[in-house]
Amino acid sequence: MLGSGKGSNFAAIADAIDAGKIPAQVGIVLSDVEGAGILSHAREREIAAQFIPAGKFRTKLDEEAERSYVAALQTSQVDLIVLAGFMRVLKGDFLRAFEGRIVNIHPSLLPSFPGLEGWKQALDHGVKVTGCTVHFVDAGLDAGPVIGQQTVPVLDDDTPQSLHQRIHATEHELYPKCVAAIARGEISVQGRRVVWRRA
Ligand code: GRF
Repeated sequence: MLGSGKGSNFAAIADAIDAGKIPAQVGIVLSDVEGAGILSHAREREIAAQFIPAGKFRTKLDEEAERSYVAALQTSQVDLIVLAGFMRVLKGDFLRAFEGRIVNIHPSLLPSFPGLEGWKQALDHGVKVTGCTVHFVDAGLDAGPVIGQQTVPVLDDDTPQSLHQRIHATEHELYPKCVAAIARGEISVQGRRVVWRRA
């Protein structure tokens, strides 16, 4: 798993694994932020965790960092890369190394409000319903095939913080469900459509 922040989605997925709801293990947690909560959460659970600096760019990994991330993930022999608040856009060699095997969670109903602060974009736009989306990662920004979505109503007295908090809570339900379905081989990708085969 890759993350830059608190790691609450990591914790939700790790809890679901511990509860026997996801037939998988977290191989390694990587972060571009040395003090990120996701690294300390992983270490508390005795899961391998490593800080790998992103290099000279602000929004993506530089070539050397990309190689280090790919090497660490390949050494851990992971089957799926789960992005949980990883604040770098993945490109080139990274995407090629794990094509079709990278998933992300985004705090809006894509394709609405990609990019930063999806909850704030939704509030500013005035939509009445927003939510979160789990999707495969491709070369576009928050653009790959949608695996699952969960809605959250926007309330008249919402602030960016209150809306973000409710979206975050739904992420913790949706992400483990989607990762479980992938781990059980229950989904297939047909062009842009991800089809769930219930076992
Ligand atoms: C979530 O809001 C997620 O949608 C976004 O980054 C945040 C990660 O939160 N991609 P956490 O680190 O899992 O708590």
